[in-house]
Amino acid sequence: MQRIVILTGAGVSAESGLGTFRDVGGLWSRYDLEDVATPGGFARNPRLVHGFYNARRANMRAAEPNPAHAALARLLAAHPGQVTLVTQNIDDLHERAGASPVIHMHGELARALCGACGARWDAPDAMVPEDACPACGAAATRPDVVWFGEIPYHMERIGAALTACDLFVAIGTSGAVYPAAGFVAEAAGHGAETLEINLEPSDTAAAFDRHLHGPASRIVPEWVATLLR
Ligand code: APR
Repeated sequence: MQRIVILTGAGVSAESGLGTFRDVGGLWSRYDLEDVATPGGFARNPRLVHGFYNARRANMRAAEPNPAHAALARLLAAHPGQVTLVTQNIDDLHERAGASPVIHMHGELARALCGACGARWDAPDAMVPEDACPACGAAATRPDVVWFGEIPYHMERIGAALTACDLFVAIGTSGAVYPAAGFVAEAAGHGAETLEINLEPSDTAAAFDRHLHGPASRIVPEWVATLLR
């Protein structure tokens, strides 16, 4: 079995009802990301930012994984250690479909972080600025998500997987945000074949060897079935 790195984006959760960022009506057309997805925005108005993530956490908990999440979980289970699943998504739908491990390079809505001492814990349904850190007591809690201008998580582990893989597959991502948008070039530079699975050609479509276009909930199970034959 070839070594595969899979990178997912908001498109893999779109059919679970979680919406995307840059499609028509996407999150960034309704919120100014400077206000809700940057350290400066959080410093200026932590209550607004907690409210933004509390709403997304509620949506996540009301949503269900779709057949794309389930198919990827089957692929990981069939080839443990051969398939690395990296996601830009902060939802837990991959895990709830049975995928493990899931590398969340932009953090997780289900987790909270203390800005003072670095402690992490399972996030409550709703967070408010007055919440005290369970470890140090400081009222400095935030969602454990990576904001613009911050360093994504697990980059060394992801880099090692990209260097070693035979196939890199991007699923449901626009290729608009780095470093994730640069993974295809990194994998190809080390000799990997590259495949884009997306509703339509992404901003980085030209960088991929092959393309499968259509809704993830149909295309991903079909693609996984060809690998599990
Ligand atoms: N099936 C497959 N692909 C889909 C579907 C679907 N049903 N619906 C939408 N898409 C595709 C869109 O065509 C688009 O290319 O998913 C992609 C979503 O792109 P974005 O909204 O930009 O989401 P993403 O690429 O995950 O954004 C990357 O930007 O704002 C930051 O941190 C945030 O992790 C996010 C990062």
